[in-house]
Amino acid sequence: MKPIHVGLLGVGTVGGGTYTVLRRNQQEITRRTGRNIIIRMIADLDQERIRTLTAGDNDVVATSDALEIARHPDIDIVVELIGGQTIAKQAILEAIAHGKHVVTANKALLANHGNEIFAAAQQHNVIVAFEAAVAGGIPIIKALREGLAANQIEWIAGIINGTSNYILSEMRTKGLDFDTALASAQQLGYAEADPTFDIKGFDAAHKITIMAALAFGIPVRFDQTYIEGITQLANEDIRYAEELGYRIKLLGITKRTSSGIELRVHPTLIPAKRLIANVEGVMNAIIAQGDAVGPTLYYGAGAGAEPTASAVIADLVDVTRLMTSNPEHRVPVLAFLPELLSDTPIISME
Ligand code: HSE
Repeated sequence: MKPIHVGLLGVGTVGGGTYTVLRRNQQEITRRTGRNIIIRMIADLDQERIRTLTAGDNDVVATSDALEIARHPDIDIVVELIGGQTIAKQAILEAIAHGKHVVTANKALLANHGNEIFAAAQQHNVIVAFEAAVAGGIPIIKALREGLAANQIEWIAGIINGTSNYILSEMRTKGLDFDTALASAQQLGYAEADPTFDIKGFDAAHKITIMAALAFGIPVRFDQTYIEGITQLANEDIRYAEELGYRIKLLGITKRTSSGIELRVHPTLIPAKRLIANVEGVMNAIIAQGDAVGPTLYYGAGAGAEPTASAVIADLVDVTRLMTSNPEHRVPVLAFLPELLSDTPIISME
């Protein structure tokens, strides 16, 4: 069968990881997919970065223009790993308008403009997949969409920002101060381009709003989420919590209640003997409670090049499989229930 041609936008940490893992595991991935998935074009403003990454791979066409790939007739799937909300949004909408499926890790974009992007995808009958946007390598989107499909999801709570969890762990276990721990997280490639997104709770809020939309069938409501990060925490807070038998974790929480849906991110005291209190470093953990299954727990690396690439490539496999299905029978990855739930109140916690 004809191979699937991918256009990769951005070869920073996650883009580089995606190219590397896809090539390294090409045979396994093809066996699972039934089609060969090939990166045909790469866009990055830094052409040298593309040359270094793809050295010896003469099949890749390099460009600095993301929109050229979004419109290119040879490309089946566009993978957006540029980040930000300007060029990334333009490229995604352009790709959708040209009938291309999209894979993105861009949680900030989906949290702020997801409603518009998913509406465009539905209109053009294409898929927008976003496993890598939430909790790095943990397949939480697939778990919520498929694994828990039988359930009314009651609540979701989790450690969903690797950088903050890494900082809190380093402060607790090594006594590092906040700034040193943050610098180390940045060096390891965990933090966002603007790390205030991590430490002020915005990144976790992006992710919890995306999960809430998926779990409850509501539109993405980032603007109504209560957000408090870890910037006010000092080493003493962490030490006192420890003395009282608690750990401090930054949690994203969403819950269905009789009066609406709670959406919040804030540091939380958790008894030290709980599983989730022992999730350290860049690892993420999410508990999702369904009415039939009860509580379920997901654990894994929440950031980093290859863990996030793992999620990007899982989406490529998924989209490739779905491409062969009848478009009329395709259910969008994010299917809202606007008639039922668009007016659901969001409970703020001011
Ligand atoms: N900066 C993010 C984090 C990257 O630390 O979790 C993964 O989304």
